Amino acid sequence: MRFGYDFSTRRALITGASSGLGAHFALLLARQGIAGLALAARRRDRLDETAAACRAAGAGAVVTLSLDVTEDGDITKAIADTAEQLGGLDLLINNAGVADSARALDTDASSFDRVMDTNLRGPWLMAVGAAKAMIAGGTGGDIVNIASILGLRVKTGVAPYAVSKAGVIQMTRALATEWARHDIRVNALAPGYIETDINRAFFATEAGQAMIKGIPARRIGQAGDLDAPFLLLCSGASAYLTGAVLTVDGGHHINSL
Ligand SMILES: NC(=O)c1ccc[n+]([C@@H]2O[C@H](COP(=O)([O-])OP(=O)(O)OC[C@H]3O[C@@H](n4cnc5c(N)ncnc54)[C@H](OP(=O)(O)O)[C@@H]3O)[C@@H](O)[C@H]2O)c1
Repeated sequence: MRFGYDFSTRRALITGASSGLGAHFALLLARQGIAGLALAARRRDRLDETAAACRAAGAGAVVTLSLDVTEDGDITKAIADTAEQLGGLDLLINNAGVADSARALDTDASSFDRVMDTNLRGPWLMAVGAAKAMIAGGTGGDIVNIASILGLRVKTGVAPYAVSKAGVIQMTRALATEWARHDIRVNALAPGYIETDINRAFFATEAGQAMIKGIPARRIGQAGDLDAPFLLLCSGASAYLTGAVLTVDGGHHINSL
């Protein structure tokens, strides 16, 4: 049996595509020969680099869009521009996110708001806007929210981030129940610790190495570890899968207490 990992007609909008996992997911979809890619973030120069790599890797149309997910007007415009420039939208990757490292007692209102606005309010507005575009286009579609195992378990020093990602997980379930009737699936990918530019130096330290010992797989993840689970959530192969939270973490979140 062949599975339906066919992206040749799909048009995707990826937030936070300027670096890290977002850029990785863009390239991965490009390698599948996706018909259209809208790459959105604040750093246009980095988006242009990702766009060039995606074109070379086999994507059809590739456009870049300025997007700050804390700005409502940017969100409306990014969704409208994607639908117009790619001829529709049937896949949203809600990937943009930020983390602040501080104990709760040292967290002020503005840093709490920044994390919530970027990680939860922005993805909510993106999802609602994208769902309206999918319904208007009559195509249905898929929304993949990039959560984290910190939405399922807590760790000291990153409370607002953990709260925001728990919100993303519950948002995934709530929207999935409302939009299944429109043939829109909403699922979450919840990675454990994945090596990217922001955490590479930390994992080389003694504290980082100690944390790795708490992962049953005894290693941190690489972006490529997310590829197959990510493509499953993005593709027609998972047509009856919605409201799911797929953890990819080497067993970290279910480790023995
Ligand atoms: N790496 C991990 O271990 C890990 C584990 C679990 C979950 N995650 C999640 O995976 C996602 C990507 O993280 P990453 O590790 O790839 O980090 P990253 O390299 O720092 O990427 C974060 C992306 O989000 C974008 N972004 C931040 N604030 C934004 C805003 N206000 N508006 C629009 N875009 C914004 C950034 O683009 P600009 O600065 O150009 O706007 C950047 O492209 C995040 O949601 C993160 O929580 C990561």
